[in-house]
Amino acid sequence: MDFKELEDACRRCRKCGLGETRKNTVLERGSRSARLMFVGEAPGETEDNTGIPFVGAAGQLFDKYLEAVGIDREEIYVCNILKCRPPHNRDPLPEEQEACMEYLREQVRLVRPRIIVCLGRIAAMRLISPDFKITREHGKFFKRGNFLMCAVYHPSALLRDPSKKEESLRDMLAIAAEYEKLKTEGDTAGARENL
Ligand code: URA
Repeated sequence: MDFKELEDACRRCRKCGLGETRKNTVLERGSRSARLMFVGEAPGETEDNTGIPFVGAAGQLFDKYLEAVGIDREEIYVCNILKCRPPHNRDPLPEEQEACMEYLREQVRLVRPRIIVCLGRIAAMRLISPDFKITREHGKFFKRGNFLMCAVYHPSALLRDPSKKEESLRDMLAIAAEYEKLKTEGDTAGARENL
């Protein structure tokens, strides 16, 4: 599948009931050649209206964190486990997540990120470990095959509980540092090849 085929497959998708209630499918934002990928849980109302992930209140807070830690929002790739909005923003059902994972796998295959960051508990439980505990394990790095994985609090959780904001800033700083390391390694490898 290429990106166009993936977009078309999502637009045609009726694998779960959310295909009946969505206004738009919400696939991606950012760079398709990003080394750093962020994965949230599911589109909310603003995302459903616009077809773009993380553009509502939670997305705006997420963008502030990116800016605060010096990550260029155009350089990264942002998507969700689900491509369609669950009614009233309820948690995605396991069967909805299962039906949609095929599209996320394609996104990872096409983008080939080196670091994958889960935004919130739902994405972390799906992508890192089913018994992931976000309060205990946020900000920790896990090696999974070729990827470095990590989870941070979902920006909506930070809007509900601002006392978590400081911890989240520390986690995002650690992610920015890993990302910088990766970019430096890439530059060094490129320079070596030119020797
Ligand atoms: N919450 C998410 O998990 N994803 C979005 O795109 C918006 C809000």
